[in-house]
Amino acid sequence: MATRNIVTKEEPLLYKKSRPVKAFDARLHQLLDDMAETLLASGGVGLAAPQVGVLRRAVLVIETNVPEGEDEQLIELINPEIVESSGEQYGAEGCLSFPDEYGLVRRPMDVTVRAQDRNGEFFTVSGTGLTARCFCHEIDHLDGVVFTTLCERMLTQEELEQGKIEEQ
Ligand code: NI
Repeated sequence: MATRNIVTKEEPLLYKKSRPVKAFDARLHQLLDDMAETLLASGGVGLAAPQVGVLRRAVLVIETNVPEGEDEQLIELINPEIVESSGEQYGAEGCLSFPDEYGLVRRPMDVTVRAQDRNGEFFTVSGTGLTARCFCHEIDHLDGVVFTTLCERMLTQEELEQGKIEEQ
């Protein structure tokens, strides 16, 4: 495994649509392993392949809603699609590709995603709160959509100093 560079907002790839993953091979596994190492090193809660310069439909999300004492879970989503969403949450969102920028974004409170795993098997997974927000944010990346275009407004420096904010 190796960490890869996370591209920032100047990189045109971030605004392009990613292609579906068709080969569930060693190259994909290497990409996913490298993305995991990159994400864990970054301190963020989600990462999409285009953020490491690869226009393929693959994302990682860390499930942080786990019982106390249990490890957070890393979820690999290949060719993910949101199949159900409900409720609403309004809160701060950030992105590893937009360091130090946060904005208020409205997202569903509960989201169910259908995706393939690294071997091509289909599965569904549901998330709530931050995990639901993260599913939406990362899947948006695969369509070249970044959170700053969805923000109702950006947060001020003063607001940033007051609260804990997760990066996706
Ligand atoms: Ni992001």
